[in-house]
Amino acid sequence: MARRKKVYEGKAKILYEGPEPGTLVQYFKDDATAFNAQKKDVIEGKGVLNNRLSEFFMTGLAQIGVPTHFIRRLNMREQLIRSVEIIPLEVVVRNFAAGTLSQRLGLEEGTPLPRPIVEFCLKDDALGDPLVAEEHIIAFGWASQQDLDDMVALALRVNDFLSGCMLAVGIKLVDFKIEIGRIWDNDFQRLIVADEISPDSCRLWDMETGQKLDKDVFRRDLGNLADAYTEVARRLGVLPSNVTPASKPTLIN
Ligand code: TMP
Ligand code: ASP
Repeated sequence: MARRKKVYEGKAKILYEGPEPGTLVQYFKDDATAFNAQKKDVIEGKGVLNNRLSEFFMTGLAQIGVPTHFIRRLNMREQLIRSVEIIPLEVVVRNFAAGTLSQRLGLEEGTPLPRPIVEFCLKDDALGDPLVAEEHIIAFGWASQQDLDDMVALALRVNDFLSGCMLAVGIKLVDFKIEIGRIWDNDFQRLIVADEISPDSCRLWDMETGQKLDKDVFRRDLGNLADAYTEVARRLGVLPSNVTPASKPTLIN
């Protein structure tokens, strides 16, 4: 059997050449990393869950007119996507203080923010994805002013959509990160949502109990990560029937 060509391997996903020009196959690994890969593990079933969850969010975004790279799911771990030129910025949207914002400004985690805050981090593992200002982005040419305006508009639309999805199933969207790619339609360039949207790149807290249902479970050793993601998928109604919960069944007396 012919071996397909690997185009790129990241910490959680692999990209292979797609069946047609302009497409790629995105494969979701079970690998989990945190703190710029200083902490690593393999979480059985994570890739399957994130493949499904990312499909769910990207499909919903397309339905409300937000363009994404997603074309269709191929199998349990793979989806067909449009090949894009990734803008080398992580676009973070925050609704409540947490993580590095709390650390930076001394805000208690969970403090509601006066309005959604959009931040940019440079995608550079060696530097630990540092926060950058619009001034840096323009001066160093990572994106243009028009790109930045479009990125903020896209990120806020994704925020409204994801916040609503989560609210409907009793989950608070604290913050999330997206990546954005450039595509060319003839001579016109457009920016579209790329990479993935999954609990790997969001903070999701149960509305009632505050229980964390995202990668902080792994970052902060709070329990079983696959169980947390399974709970998100179950609530959203996207749990694939052949994924079994990672923890042992409990006896019912
Ligand atoms: P932070 O509090 O660590 O800056 O992260 C904010 C949100 O963005 C959180 O949901 C995690 C997500 N994020 C990533 O998934 N990858 C990244 O490289 C960065 C900087 C943030
Ligand atoms: N995604 C980054 C890493 O794998 C940062 C994080 O999620 O904590 O190191």
